[in-house]
Amino acid sequence: MYILGINAYHGGASACLIKDGELIAAAEEERFKRVKYWAGFPVEAILYCLAEGGITAYDLDHIGISRNPSANLRKKVLFALSKRPSFSKIRDRLANAARVRDPKKALVGTLDLDPSALKAEFHNVEHHRAHMASAFFVSPFQGAAIFSVDGMGDFVSTMWGIGCGSRFEVLGEINYPHSLGWLYTAVSQWLGFPKYGDEGKVMGLAPYGEPVYLDQFRKIVRLQRDGTFELDMDFFALDAEGATMTWDGGEPILGTLYSQKLVDTFGLPRIPRTEITEQHQNVAASLQAMLEEAEFSLVNMLQRTTGQKALCMAGGVALNSAFNGKVLPQTAFEDIYIQPAAGDAGTALGVAYYIYHQILGQPRAYVLNHAYTGPRFANGHVAGMLNDYGLLYKELDDDQLVKRAAEIVARGDVLGWFQGRMEWGPRALGNRSIIADPRREDMKDILNARIKHREKFRPFAPSILLEAVGDYFDQTYPDPFMIKVYNVLPDKRSVIPAVTHVDGTGRLQTVDQETAPLYWQLIKEFENLAGVPVVLNTSFNENEPIVCKPEEAIECFLRTRMDALVIGNYLVHK
Ligand SMILES: [Fe+2]
Repeated sequence: MYILGINAYHGGASACLIKDGELIAAAEEERFKRVKYWAGFPVEAILYCLAEGGITAYDLDHIGISRNPSANLRKKVLFALSKRPSFSKIRDRLANAARVRDPKKALVGTLDLDPSALKAEFHNVEHHRAHMASAFFVSPFQGAAIFSVDGMGDFVSTMWGIGCGSRFEVLGEINYPHSLGWLYTAVSQWLGFPKYGDEGKVMGLAPYGEPVYLDQFRKIVRLQRDGTFELDMDFFALDAEGATMTWDGGEPILGTLYSQKLVDTFGLPRIPRTEITEQHQNVAASLQAMLEEAEFSLVNMLQRTTGQKALCMAGGVALNSAFNGKVLPQTAFEDIYIQPAAGDAGTALGVAYYIYHQILGQPRAYVLNHAYTGPRFANGHVAGMLNDYGLLYKELDDDQLVKRAAEIVARGDVLGWFQGRMEWGPRALGNRSIIADPRREDMKDILNARIKHREKFRPFAPSILLEAVGDYFDQTYPDPFMIKVYNVLPDKRSVIPAVTHVDGTGRLQTVDQETAPLYWQLIKEFENLAGVPVVLNTSFNENEPIVCKPEEAIECFLRTRMDALVIGNYLVHK
């Protein structure tokens, strides 16, 4: 049985194909379109998934989209009536709703299909139910509490529940306009980070400041006795239609989410790319502290009401790795699972598994314990590409390859590392990565000057051998998806300065020999040379979506000042 899940007409458009409950392929459209968070109908991701499965659209049994415009319709209408939406916004929203309601039309049109030959049944699955399904159904847990939190989807910002085997039950939700995701986005905009997905930068900025404005934030976010929260809407400029958003066929663009009252409280907004002051750092720190306070309130309520020991999390806010790393040490939960595409892209995976388990009642058998679900390219294809670009290269077997790569990194050079299947989710996890020496204090500046051109304050992340985590970090719970921040042990901070953030933390990826054998071997070789089982791992890109195809990696290598490239079994020097 083939099921295709789609996230369309929403940020992070994506597709996922499963066969009899096993994940065959999942990928984000941005990687093919080469526009970050591309929003529209993910034709190329769908075509890729079908090709990976060796099938056509006519072989699909079910197709689902992770939106349901009919969900919460009554609440939407009541809220809209209390405001005065503009005609053009209503028209845009209706057009979007019509498209979301009829994914079949989009599929038939874009793939040029004969609708009468399609046997698939179509499903609309509510946005947060798709998030929850994405977290629970591919987790290792048969029973778990489930927590989904983002900006907004289908009029809901936060949803929680309990999962057992092939089903989960929703226990509660918080509706628009009360949203922790949009709180974070609004303050990120005020801080001069206005782009979709910029919230991660603010999370990286927060450790430079002190949460001196936490009391002000507690007036903006009012925690309730039942563990939930309300926003004081006077601080926001959200209207009846949600935020002003442009979704179709490009990078999502958000309107301004904060009001004059926020400006009255914190001062004039920072103009992007201007100086970051101590006050900006303190607002970022206070925002992060407030988010954590509200999330702890919800997560503790969820633990108490469900009595579960395992927690599955999803939604854009579940990409807040600083909070995620605090869940196990600071709550009664003992296990946690967050699939790598925790943001909206992940709802494509969620909708596929929602159909398979929740609708069709099929038993659980699959655990997503790696993120390598995207396109792969054979050595022959890669060699052809290298020839096309006129590059000189050396073919090496795997053992030689990792030895040479480790030498390059240990001598302080910057290495492009392109292997196997592209990662699912926003992190490069050793298949589309740039690798460097974490021992060098100056490596951050080198990477920024030569390749990444990122804001100076943003940290770089470590990949560490799973078996060595306890020697370097204060927690040992595996994190193959680089989605939690742990404290670097105080005596190790000066050993790996390039991947230790200003507050002594690191957003680590634990690398396990079973699921990432070649990457594990590379780090092991590096340890043999350098005495440290850690490498610096940053995504293979330069202010663009992470590279997908060999030609994109080659072009990035040629365009930037990367020293060497290992692509498939080939080593290329400049
Ligand atoms: Fe979402």
